[in-house]
Amino acid sequence: MRLSVIGCGYLGAVHAAAMASIGHEVVGIDVDQRKIDALSKGLAPFFEPGLQEILTEGIASGRLSFTTDMGAASGAQVHFVGVGTPQQKDGYAADMTYVNAAVDELIPHLSPGDIVAGKSTVPVGTAATLAERVTPTGATLVWNPEFLREGWAVQDTVDPDRLVAGVPAGPDGERAADILREVYHPSVAKNTPFIVTDYATAELVKVAANAFLATKISFINAMAEIAEVTGADVTQLADAIGHDARIGRRFLGAGIGFGGGCLPKDIRAFAARAEELGRGESVGFLREVDAINMRRRDRAVELVVNAMGGSVFEKKVAVLGAAFKPHSDDIRDSPALDVAVRLHGLGADVIVTDPAAIENARRIHPQLSYAEERDDAIRDADAVVLVTEWDEYRRELPAEHASTLTTGRIVVDGRNGLDADAWRAAGWTYYGMGRP
Ligand code: UDX
Repeated sequence: MRLSVIGCGYLGAVHAAAMASIGHEVVGIDVDQRKIDALSKGLAPFFEPGLQEILTEGIASGRLSFTTDMGAASGAQVHFVGVGTPQQKDGYAADMTYVNAAVDELIPHLSPGDIVAGKSTVPVGTAATLAERVTPTGATLVWNPEFLREGWAVQDTVDPDRLVAGVPAGPDGERAADILREVYHPSVAKNTPFIVTDYATAELVKVAANAFLATKISFINAMAEIAEVTGADVTQLADAIGHDARIGRRFLGAGIGFGGGCLPKDIRAFAARAEELGRGESVGFLREVDAINMRRRDRAVELVVNAMGGSVFEKKVAVLGAAFKPHSDDIRDSPALDVAVRLHGLGADVIVTDPAAIENARRIHPQLSYAEERDDAIRDADAVVLVTEWDEYRRELPAEHASTLTTGRIVVDGRNGLDADAWRAAGWTYYGMGRP
């Protein structure tokens, strides 16, 4: 099928390449010339395992191209809209400027029978409003939210755990759902759940999923706060409750909390939208989820300061990690980088290292020092602080090896990713999050 993908950021670039990889002919469209130039050369504009390969393959096959010209969307049967919906600068709601602009620019290029498939994460009610503009062209709007995780984006797009299509009532909606089934033919063939809903439900599925995940993380971080004043160990607690299949162990990793381009902004936008709908109290707990999450960063800084006898002034602190999570170079709302910046603000000599995110971090926080190599960051450090649980800093960093690099013996584990006993046995004083 011929497809267009409007917006070639994280979501769009991966979607375009993934759709080409399953056999479609795809054009990716974005207003950012630099992004389009890079993608056209087959260069992934961010670190995402597997993306480089499918980009190169797609371009070589002639099925995948990129352009800044919206006119290139003409002739495609399905147009995916995957532009960003960042947090507004002066509030918590989502900034809809890019979605509105993308749809307005796309409309003149639509033909009757086309499908416009919204993928961006939007406030509930958006699709119904956009449909009023799309329907007069003879095209049908569907809402088809994206659940990809950074670091697994290609896999999540090619082989998702479910597909959701919000469609209008009636034959147009049924036809649109069938066309989406055709787009996602490999997933449909292997019986991946394909859930057809109305617009509002589809929009809500996405924000509800992210709100649930964020709540799960903040729940365990709240337990970490209680563990901290009782001497309990939150990691054992998580293991124990996680064995209950109704609870499950995933997303019960206590630590410095969640960040990134999705969870923080999505729960805030959801709360703001609920307020607009007169149902603010229904998701009032999301404010608490946000507050618990932000307190974990304070706690990590406090642990480092206390470990160093009350002040980090002029102390050398190695910060392992800058990305908001491993397998990503994304530093948007990264708790890791936030901890580094706060320690720097307290006068510490902070050296940050990360296998993928240094370049991005340096651009936003040039005041910090950076080391390309993990061992250079640790060398002569008074304290080692793990904030992004890359394997390089967990499994592949034996305490004995760290001991050869520095005489400092303080390790603060912001992700509860280290083997505490092994570090203690090697002579280090270990501090975890919500652990004795
Ligand atoms: C998230 C959703 O998982 C995905 O479905 C949605 O489409 C986009 O938002 P992503 O932002 O890539 O994906 O990251 P995710 O893996 O969810 O992690 C988010 C944050 O939570 C990270 O900072 C991570 O370190 C943190 N986290 C995750 C925890 O602190 N504890 C956990 O147990 C799990």
